[in-house]
Amino acid sequence: MSSRAAEAARDLGGGAMNAHRAARPRRSLPLAALGVGMTCLLLLLISCKSRHEQSQAQAATGGGSSTLGRKLITQYGCPSCHSIPGIQGPKGVVGPPLDHIAQRTFIAGKVKNTPQNVIQWLQNPQSFDPANAMPNLGIPEKDARDIAAYLYTLK
Ligand code: HEC
Repeated sequence: MSSRAAEAARDLGGGAMNAHRAARPRRSLPLAALGVGMTCLLLLLISCKSRHEQSQAQAATGGGSSTLGRKLITQYGCPSCHSIPGIQGPKGVVGPPLDHIAQRTFIAGKVKNTPQNVIQWLQNPQSFDPANAMPNLGIPEKDARDIAAYLYTLK
């Protein structure tokens, strides 16, 4: 290869590299926009899903508010005995963990998992089994309904 040809090749290579460098910012902008778009879409899907679950739980419990239920769960001290997803606190192990409680067929191993039964369970656990260890916390029906609505978002 003559030195001229080598120079030309270098120039060409350099040119290609420069072109590559110049093209980069233009190419990464749409990529960044795509990234932001995908993140927004994901957040939107997550918030839609949780809103969907909240309204499903509300319908199932005859108007219970999972947002209120979440607060009541902390107020009544349920986490001192149960680990409950989405609730901050001690994550107690006296009672069973309540994750996926919405998908269980039975509660406490014997009571059919229906909204009405869960609401009754929360108000008076001994009405199903006088020997069971969950205390009667004196929860009024309205609060039990809201707490049940929160439990039914735990799929
Ligand atoms: C002093 C401890 C204690 C507290 C406080 C307590 N529980 Fe329980 N809970 C238990 C025990 C023990 C069981 C298991 C009873 C059984 O299986 O017979 C239980 C069972 C349950 C079950 C059925 C779980 C399953 O896997 O079948 C639900 C639902 C539940 N508790 C919700 C609550 C909620 C909501 C609160 C707060 C309002 C609460 N518990 C407060 C001890 C407690």
